[in-house]
Amino acid sequence: MKVLVTGGAGYIGSHTVKKLCELGFDVTVLDNLCLGHVDAIDKNATFVQADLLDKNGIHRKLANQKFDAVIHFAANSLVGESVEKPMKYIGDNVQMAVNLLGWMQENNINKFILSSTANLFGKPNKIPIDEDTEIIPGSPYGESKYIIERMLACLGGSNKITYTSLRYFNAAGAYKDASIGEDHKIETHLIPLVIQVALGKRDKITIFGDDYETKDGTCIRDYVHVSDLATAHILALKHLGDNNSSTVYNLGSGNGYSVKEVVDAVQKITGKAVKYEVGNRRAGDPPMLIASSNKIKKELGWVPKYDNLEKIISSAWEWHKNNPNGFRH
Ligand code: UFG
Repeated sequence: MKVLVTGGAGYIGSHTVKKLCELGFDVTVLDNLCLGHVDAIDKNATFVQADLLDKNGIHRKLANQKFDAVIHFAANSLVGESVEKPMKYIGDNVQMAVNLLGWMQENNINKFILSSTANLFGKPNKIPIDEDTEIIPGSPYGESKYIIERMLACLGGSNKITYTSLRYFNAAGAYKDASIGEDHKIETHLIPLVIQVALGKRDKITIFGDDYETKDGTCIRDYVHVSDLATAHILALKHLGDNNSSTVYNLGSGNGYSVKEVVDAVQKITGKAVKYEVGNRRAGDPPMLIASSNKIKKELGWVPKYDNLEKIISSAWEWHKNNPNGFRH
C-alpha cells in the first residue's frame, strides 16, 4: 500500500511514518519543515519538501505519483496560539486541507485519515468524552479541525472519499528505541517542559492555575502515547482498505492525570527535583479532558500499550535524556 503522509516530519507524523515503514508500507512524506525535523523522517520513506498552502507546488511536486491513501498530520496545532492568531488556524489549516483534498480528487485518491483533536469538545459537561459528546470547539484550532471534519462528512456523503478522523487527546512519549521523540521548536507542552526542568534546561515550570474543581486544583488531561496513536492510524488505514465506511474515533488512554501528578511522576522517574510556581489560568484550558476510546477498541481492536503515566513519561525521558537538545536538523 502506497501512503502519502503530510506532516510526516512532525511529532505524531514521524512516529506513524516509522511504524508504517517498519511494517513495509511504501511511504512518502510531504512536509514544509517549518515545524518538523528532517532527522525525524524515517530513512525508508521518500521525502518531498512542499507546502500545502502552495496548491500549484503540490501538483507539481507530486505529479505522476499514485497513492492508495493519505494521512494528513500537517497543521498548526497549538491551542493557545490559535486564540492569538485565529487566521493561522481557521485560515491556513483549512486551506491546507482544501488544497490537499482537491489534489486527491483530481488524482482519484479517495482514502483519507485526518489528525483531529479533543479540542473539538471544548469544555465538555460529561466525562469520559465519547464520539457522541456535543461538539463545541474550544479554540480556533479545534474549530479548524471541525471545519475539516465537516468537509470530509460532505465529501463522504457524496461518495467522493472514505475517511477516518482520529481525535487525539494529549500525545506524549517517544519511539520504543528512543530514536525519535518530541521536539517542538517552541515548546509549550507540559511533559517536555517538565522534563526540561529535570534536565536543568529550564529553572522551573509554571502551573497554569491550581483553583480548578479537580482533585488537587490543577487541570486533568488524558495522556496517550504517541506509538499507540501511530498504531491507531495503521489500524484505521487497514480498515479503510477493507471497508467503504467513514467514521470518527476518540483516542486517549482513558486515564486522567493532573498537572501536579505529571510533575510528581517526572520527579520520581528522573530522580531530579522539579521546581514549579503556580501562575494564572491559561485562557481556554478546560479543567478536565478524559477520553472514552471504547469505539476504536471495539471496532478496530486498538489496545494502548502504554496504559499509565509512568510508562508514558519513562518513554519520553529516554528520548529527552539522550537528546537534550532535540533533533540536530
Ligand atoms: N500546563 C501548565 N504549564 C505549562 C504547560 C501546560 O500548567 O507550562 C498545563 C495546561 O494548562 C494543561 C496541561 O498542562 O492543563 C496540558 O497542557 P499542554 O499544553 O501540554 O496540552 P493541551 O491540553 O493544552 O493541548 C494538547 C495539544 C492540543 C490538543 C489537546 C487535546 O497541544 O493540540 O492536547 O487535549 F488539542
